[in-house]
Amino acid sequence: MIGQANGVPISITGLGCHVPERVLTNDDLAQLVDTNDEWIVERTGIRERRIAAEDEALTDICLPAARRALAMAGAEPASVDLLIVATVTPDMAFPSSSALLADTLGMPHAAAYDLSAGCTGFVYAIAQAHGMLAAGLAHRALVVGADVLSKILDWTDRSTIVLFGDGAGAVVMERVEQGGFLGFELGADGAGGSNLWLPGSGSRKFENPERFVKMNGREVFKFATRVMVSSAEAILGECGKTIDDVDVYVPHQANVRIIDHAARKLGVPHEKTVVNVHKYGNTSSGSIPLALADAADDGRLEPGKLVLLTGMGAGLTWGSALIDWTHETTGAAA
Ligand code: ACO
Repeated sequence: MIGQANGVPISITGLGCHVPERVLTNDDLAQLVDTNDEWIVERTGIRERRIAAEDEALTDICLPAARRALAMAGAEPASVDLLIVATVTPDMAFPSSSALLADTLGMPHAAAYDLSAGCTGFVYAIAQAHGMLAAGLAHRALVVGADVLSKILDWTDRSTIVLFGDGAGAVVMERVEQGGFLGFELGADGAGGSNLWLPGSGSRKFENPERFVKMNGREVFKFATRVMVSSAEAILGECGKTIDDVDVYVPHQANVRIIDHAARKLGVPHEKTVVNVHKYGNTSSGSIPLALADAADDGRLEPGKLVLLTGMGAGLTWGSALIDWTHETTGAAA
């Protein structure tokens, strides 16, 4: 799917994020499996990640992020009429985490549902919220991207535990005078789905359903380096922009090598690329809003800046959004 965000201007008016308190360093992981700081930093750029406590579930980390975003937008929770939580690690299969969150926040008028698109979930969710807002079905949306992947990892599998972390980010979206979203490109390739999957987590029967994340890292790496470039180029072309027009590039924070490859191929200079994977690892649906929040607090997300978001992940999925940033958003970071 690709298209320009025609019609009424819709933008992000509030931004917030939250990460669990517990820090797990590469040295901590070396106590659990046969790995070391040097290998992890060289192959991924990750130095530490945040891990949810045993009794901390998805909605627990969504809540502070959501409250921060609402406060920044100056929006009462009850004024929100659409809540989408992008995640692959809901509190439970049902009720949806968004319904639970809407209740905790106090959003009696909100349609609330979860959206599953792997690490691309946040980009899918803002595209969907945009569609509903532009159509006039909703007037103020809260979109949360969050995951607690630590809950579905095999903690004896060194190929996955070094990569992932837990975190949440949220945005408020609504109509503005001008600027805001320019367009979206989204895609999915289920044929590659088993390169990053959670067998035994649904209605399909598996012989040994361990229900842990399984990943073919090399295949995901090849996929990622391809779509991070093609998706970004597609949305820029669709919106009549070039890479030189982009002020802030916010790629999915999976691995610094994937980010560097995409930035180099696209021709985005280092200073325009947002990188925080070293401190949070890959937080899946939380990754892009967490990176946005860091960019905001660094003073990089000023009104008038052209912001390019590109994600990829389980599905396999990918997606990009182009935004003419409209609001002051400092104070968003965790
Ligand atoms: N510590 C030490 N050694 C390790 C570790 C580890 N944690 N993991 C693997 N190794 C070893 C391997 O066993 C292998 O050893 P061998 O050569 O003796 O067989 C060696 O290191 C090299 O392994 P590779 O898999 O070839 O390493 P590679 O350079 O491909 O890096 C990595 C692996 C980091 C996983 C890379 O493939 C990658 O980043 N892939 C993308 C993963 C990703 O981004 N997934 C998330 C997608 S988004 C989402 O939806 C969640």
